[in-house]
Amino acid sequence: MMSLLHLDSSADHFDDSVSRRLTALFADTWRRLHGTAGYRYRDLAAEPVPPVTSAYATLGRRVERHGVVPAAGVTALAEDPAERREWALTLPLVTEVLAVDTVLLGVPMYNFSVPATLKAWIDRVSFPGAFTDPDGGGSLLGRTRVVVVTARGGAYGPGTPREAFDFQTPYLRAYFGNLGVTEENLSFVHAELTRAGDVPELGRFRTLAADSLTAARTAVIVLASRLANADTATMT
Ligand SMILES: Cc1cc2nc3c(=O)[nH]c(=O)nc-3n(C[C@H](O)[C@H](O)[C@H](O)COP(=O)(O)O)c2cc1C
Repeated sequence: MMSLLHLDSSADHFDDSVSRRLTALFADTWRRLHGTAGYRYRDLAAEPVPPVTSAYATLGRRVERHGVVPAAGVTALAEDPAERREWALTLPLVTEVLAVDTVLLGVPMYNFSVPATLKAWIDRVSFPGAFTDPDGGGSLLGRTRVVVVTARGGAYGPGTPREAFDFQTPYLRAYFGNLGVTEENLSFVHAELTRAGDVPELGRFRTLAADSLTAARTAVIVLASRLANADTATMT
């Protein structure tokens, strides 16, 4: 069965969030092709992942000293209730990622980077060795597809004055690449100038904003269909 983990991180509600509406379009397209059984949704803004604590860091260091430890082994290494609690908060999130073929992320740009709610999820799931194969040390995410849908109030594309201020795409590219997600399995869709209707200085970019949204909608549908077809091809 094909599977999709859909994560949203916009602080805004659906009607006001460009990234939520785009990831929903992706998910709708995907579900039409695959049904709902393999679909899992997590709203990181509505149900925030707790920030990691000192017990998380202590347990992580102990695990690192043992090399790559499978999940069951981490439970045995937790030494006190605080560490057990941290692992109990972490393991289901890690398991959720490992269980799916595709991870879909809705990511607003907040202060040139990702929302703190997404960063809290990233910090927690990136427990030492969580995505490393205990047999052989390779990545467990070598076949996982990741689709990142960003929404930005301004524009950050090549040649724009604020190109160098984009710490969102390079960060996520480095993060997922480091985890072992391959270049060809990592896709980005950007909706830019989403604030053109609100911010007077951006008003002259309304047409560009509308074009960006249309292109993002098309890209999301194409990607969801292509991934779905690729999945089907893998099955046969
Ligand atoms: C806390 C906050 C910080 C923001 N920081 C930036 C920023 O640094 N650069 C930018 O272009 N837009 C910024 N924006 C605008 C958002 O990127 C834009 O509204 C985007 O559409 C948000 O995604 P959403 O529509 O899915 O909620 C910020 C918005 C908020 C609420």
